[in-house]
Amino acid sequence: MPFNTKILDASSPAAISVAASALREGQLVAFPTETVYGLGAIATSSIAVAKIFEAKQRPTFDPLIVHIADRAQLSDVVTHLPPLAKALADAFWPGPLTLVLPKQATIPDLVTAGLPGVGVRIPAHPVALELLRAVGLPVAAPSANPFGGISPTTAMHVADGLNSKLPIILDGGPCQVGVESTVVSFMGDRPVLLRPGGCVVEELEAVIGPIERAAPNAALDDAAQPAPGMLSRHYAPATPLTVVARKSDASSIEGLQCGLLTYGEQPFSGSFVRIERLETSEDLQTCASRFFAALRSLDSCGLDVIIAHMFPDHGLGIALNDRLQRAACRS
Ligand code: TXA
Ligand code: MG
Repeated sequence: MPFNTKILDASSPAAISVAASALREGQLVAFPTETVYGLGAIATSSIAVAKIFEAKQRPTFDPLIVHIADRAQLSDVVTHLPPLAKALADAFWPGPLTLVLPKQATIPDLVTAGLPGVGVRIPAHPVALELLRAVGLPVAAPSANPFGGISPTTAMHVADGLNSKLPIILDGGPCQVGVESTVVSFMGDRPVLLRPGGCVVEELEAVIGPIERAAPNAALDDAAQPAPGMLSRHYAPATPLTVVARKSDASSIEGLQCGLLTYGEQPFSGSFVRIERLETSEDLQTCASRFFAALRSLDSCGLDVIIAHMFPDHGLGIALNDRLQRAACRS
């Protein structure tokens, strides 16, 4: 049954308690985090969690991240915290870091796609934390967009993709980090990076030493992926996207309506119907916070192609290039 979706201003007095009650009743609520907006459901209820997969049209082999308000809730979700994972949690929580750890039996298999590990994080957004405290239970939440699409960084983005699929969107303004959390698994002998994201890998390695990179996996329908959910095509606009090295000259393609996604002051030739310059400097934090909104805006222009300049391969540039490559993948 379609919902009459309400966008509630998170700073209005009753908003958090209304949203928390809806979650406790087994409904979906979209809420802001520092990375992107999440589509939340109580993590311990398979029935509630199933609604996430239905609303997003998400395949059930793609596991969900569980959000908690504080470290006291961790034992409700995971059986233990290995020393290196504890070191990262101490240094980076609350923040854009998801740790994959051995799950408690109370977390349904639907949340973890049948895997023994569960992704868990404490977000660093005041509205998310207030909501999680008010609910008092762990909340499973993927990004609040239809499966495979561009992640939402405002409440309006959520409404654009999921209107009528959920009762409540909590509006806490635009997300500051702008790319999803970094995911590190502690399910093997050594920590493995499953997804680069808002926590810079070099900074994680400064705390715990080298983190192995997960092998990239190819097929969209391959349920036996080493890093489930790391699909080659993801975060994708409807418009074809081509990624070019920043040093190369991005020139528009003769006869085609082209858009350009770029940053910094570098010159380029060709005529573009629309240019989204994320930042005039190399400030990657600002680039990240504007990235998905800029991609959406280019995607809404009816262009034939979007050309995007690659980011430097360090810091947040690694997460941004990862999103660009997945957005560009046509298979
Ligand atoms: O910043 C974020 O992480 C946002 C906000 C809402 O917290 N959430 C998010 O969720 O990006 P989602 O569903 O779009 O991405 C979750 C990804 C999965 O696709 C998978 O790659 C990894 O996290 N993941 C989650 N749980 C996992 C598990 N148990 N084992 C391995 N990978 C897991
Ligand atoms: Mg997502």
